[in-house]
Amino acid sequence: MPIAEQASSSPTALDLAWVRSQFPALSQTINKHPMVFLDGPGGTQVPQQVIDAIADYLSRNNANTGGAYPTSRNTDRMIAEARSAMGDFLNCDSDEIIFGANMTTLTYAMSRAIGRELVSGDEIVLTLLDHDANFSPWKALEEKGVVIRTVKFNKEDCTLDMHDLAAKISGRTRLVAVGYASNAVGTINNVVEVVRLARQAGALSYIDAVHYAPHGPIDVRALDCDFLVCSTYKFFGPHMGVLYGKREHLKRLHPYKVRPNTDNIPNCWEWGTLNHECIAGTKACVDYWEGLGRRAKPAVTNRRAAILAAHEAIHQHERAMMQKMIAGLLAIPGLKLYGISDPRRFENRCATIVVRIEGHTPLELATKLGERSFFTWDGNYYALNVTEQLDVERLGGFLRIGLVHYNTMDEVERLLAALREIVRG
Ligand SMILES: Cc1ncc(COP(=O)(O)O)c(C=O)c1O
Repeated sequence: MPIAEQASSSPTALDLAWVRSQFPALSQTINKHPMVFLDGPGGTQVPQQVIDAIADYLSRNNANTGGAYPTSRNTDRMIAEARSAMGDFLNCDSDEIIFGANMTTLTYAMSRAIGRELVSGDEIVLTLLDHDANFSPWKALEEKGVVIRTVKFNKEDCTLDMHDLAAKISGRTRLVAVGYASNAVGTINNVVEVVRLARQAGALSYIDAVHYAPHGPIDVRALDCDFLVCSTYKFFGPHMGVLYGKREHLKRLHPYKVRPNTDNIPNCWEWGTLNHECIAGTKACVDYWEGLGRRAKPAVTNRRAAILAAHEAIHQHERAMMQKMIAGLLAIPGLKLYGISDPRRFENRCATIVVRIEGHTPLELATKLGERSFFTWDGNYYALNVTEQLDVERLGGFLRIGLVHYNTMDEVERLLAALREIVRG
């Protein structure tokens, strides 16, 4: 079986056979064909331990927080543990972790709180490479007289125009919002430099790490960003969002909130009753990452080190698949790939690949692939500025093929064969 072969002969430390055995969804078939999940950028599958944690919470501890009885106390404890786990995932303290419905909701809440401090003429720098969730919530502040400056990207390789970014930041800039990686074209941005430029100008930095989180390690301390957001459903957890904010900002800013909510962080940023079962699933999701890392590098001594070891193992596997996928795609007649295609520059992209093929709409390709049990996406994936700038919005956007660590070389080969067959007609 290809997966077992790959697991034993692979030079990486990723135990792919074990990985795949953790995800029940991966063993499903349609018409006897195994389902191939290439839709990770829209949401990944979850390991059994996440499903079990959600079911276990609902079966045994379902309660609201702050009550004077055991299931409520267990809920409080579970949330504290999940916060600490996410703190290790992002490398920050527990009280700097805010749980919410999703990244978009958290970003609207934060943009409203930050917007309270801004005055007419203040500037915010956004990029045209970003998902709309890191664009529209900030652009909404134009109603307060805030000036929005947008940064271009280079159309040939879909990388951020860093000269334009540096030129758009000035003494009037109050915040720079940028994606860690593009959910459309896969570019990984130089966020270290973006944060440095923002800081130099006295502006806050707000990093959308939703797309990057399943592909690379995040270290908010090393990055020294002011805020960073991600969504657990993109890195093998349940449907939820997580926001990191530097403690000083979380304490200083004034969120809109109901009166009984305390003024203490992080609770003053978490409104109403949270999704406790998904928070339980999020803790289990970090446990999954830790387990993966400990298998890859048994000598690791703590959870954070295990998460980093998991990323190391994942990185090599994703890189090898991406290389094969891109080489195979580029050999298909009439296919155009948007984004970095030179293997020497693959460190600047992740394994999220968008293409168009002459004579076929993205929807038609995704539908035909779907009929063959390959799950891909078509359209703009809310990266609306990207499809508009590349003039493909009116043409149905792109076909997006997203690889994550549970995918296999064999799946890459089969996807390429299916696509070649569809194109031949
Ligand atoms: C890069 C990026 N940012 C933000 C979002 C929005 O995340 P959420 O669905 O958690 O609001 C997505 C969702 O696809 C995304 O890919």
